[in-house]
Amino acid sequence: MAYQIYPKSFYDSNKDGIGDIPGIIEKLDYLHDLGVDIIWLSPCYPSPLADQGYDISDYYNIDPRFGTMEDMERLIAEAKKRNMYILMDLVVNHCSDEHEWFRKACEDPEGRYGHFFYLRDKEEGKLPTNWRSYFGGPVWADLPGTDKQYLHVFHKKQPDLNWENPELREEIYKNINWWLEKGLGGFRIDAIINIKKALPFRDYTPDREDGLCNVNTMLKETTGIGAFLGEMRDRTFLKYDAFSVGEVFNEKPGELPDFIGENGYFSSMFDFNAAIFGQSEKGWYDAKPITPEDYKNCCFEAQEKAADIGFLSNIIENHDEPRGVSRYIPESDCCPESKKMLAALYFMLRGIPFIYQGQELGMENTQFSSIAEIDDISSLDEYQVALDAGLSPEEALKVVAGRSRDNARTPMQWSDAPNAGFTEGTPWLSVNPNYPSINAAAQQNDPDSLFSFYKQLIRLRKNPVYQQTIVYGILEPAFRKRKNLMAYYRRSDKTLLVIGNYQRQEQSVTLPAAYKKVLLNNYADIAQDGTSILLHKYQVLILEL
Ligand code: GLC
Ligand code: CA
Repeated sequence: MAYQIYPKSFYDSNKDGIGDIPGIIEKLDYLHDLGVDIIWLSPCYPSPLADQGYDISDYYNIDPRFGTMEDMERLIAEAKKRNMYILMDLVVNHCSDEHEWFRKACEDPEGRYGHFFYLRDKEEGKLPTNWRSYFGGPVWADLPGTDKQYLHVFHKKQPDLNWENPELREEIYKNINWWLEKGLGGFRIDAIINIKKALPFRDYTPDREDGLCNVNTMLKETTGIGAFLGEMRDRTFLKYDAFSVGEVFNEKPGELPDFIGENGYFSSMFDFNAAIFGQSEKGWYDAKPITPEDYKNCCFEAQEKAADIGFLSNIIENHDEPRGVSRYIPESDCCPESKKMLAALYFMLRGIPFIYQGQELGMENTQFSSIAEIDDISSLDEYQVALDAGLSPEEALKVVAGRSRDNARTPMQWSDAPNAGFTEGTPWLSVNPNYPSINAAAQQNDPDSLFSFYKQLIRLRKNPVYQQTIVYGILEPAFRKRKNLMAYYRRSDKTLLVIGNYQRQEQSVTLPAAYKKVLLNNYADIAQDGTSILLHKYQVLILEL
């Protein structure tokens, strides 16, 4: 199983308020104790941090804020000693506008580096296309010192790299191999579906009053991304037997086998089906909440799609999402039992489970009393979008607080010491005020804690008796029509039933047969009469049948 670290917020070893690589090394034993095999680090390359490191200015270095290259090499080695592997983030749809390539493109737009980007002649009063960037506003910005404009589908400090150019692709493969030579286990691959644009560029029907259209409208028209992805696989990952997991939001129907089938472009890709549920073209303010039934359907839909093809990577949160327990559990019901239920339900799905830092402690969304407390650029954009749509500042703040990426980026809660034990300095982003009750120190030695529950889930997945079934077994939904009950069989040489009562009211179920063994239960008891079980509030059971 894998664990995502957001380095800036994990652990600060030198009191500057910013998490760092030596801090991660200090916590490797914690991760090993939890049972982690693979650690994915969000970017720690040099970056002006316009998008928290997803804007890279040098692919061959470590940002001094996070440490040195020696620290990185030590991290890889120390992890390996504990049988753990490090994945770095591969951010190659775009670089930073402070990258040397971009600076050279400004100096000589017609030269080698001009062709590393998408440049168009500037025309007064008209943009090359009407696409809206993911973080708001048009995707075109003026190329400094020239009469051209460049394309950026994310922030304007994140110019898109031109993958049509073979020289650019060579540079990227060279960099990937350079890192793999250092002993990395592989990469998580950022925003990769964006590397192929629909050519020639053209306008699409606007979808908001700003006259622009979502970038996805253009992406739907693209063909041929496979040539790039296959080439990247063959030239890099394949040679090192490296693990790769793609951040892929919108592959086209039928493309899944190419992405994660045998000889797919990636080892795995994230399942975002539940994460994107309820999204609206209009913006966060118009998004629909997700109910337990929706969550169940999203999971099963994705499982069904991937079943005969490959392994999805399963998450309930990451650095771009609100905390899973805050999103998928009704607010008034967020408690240790419901957190454990959610943990078991997603962790036992077929695929590769990923835990995002602090998820194992049940970290929750934080509180924002003003927009000034928010750092995340996408939240700032969505706040404006909500205001423009006529919401009051209070309403807009509430919308953004529920979805802000900063919810997941508050510092890791290690203990009840000041600043949650994350730093002895001033944290770069405020800690969640609930840290005195939710923290690692309080949970590590408590057998009833969420941390211990996750540990048991991980042990179970690794137990040789059940491994075949949990890792490779098929998934078959059970009691599908029962409301607020999420249940499924995992079948291989054994049959397991995972069953969760996704509500505060009790609910009874009749099992098809008596079970052999209870493998996990978030309560001390099972209220049972023969094969009929009365599930407690948010009770979850993993049974061997
Ligand atoms: C991915 C990252 C996100 C970033 C974006 C642009 O979605 O996960 O944090 O803002 O790509 O790199
Ligand atoms: Ca630091």
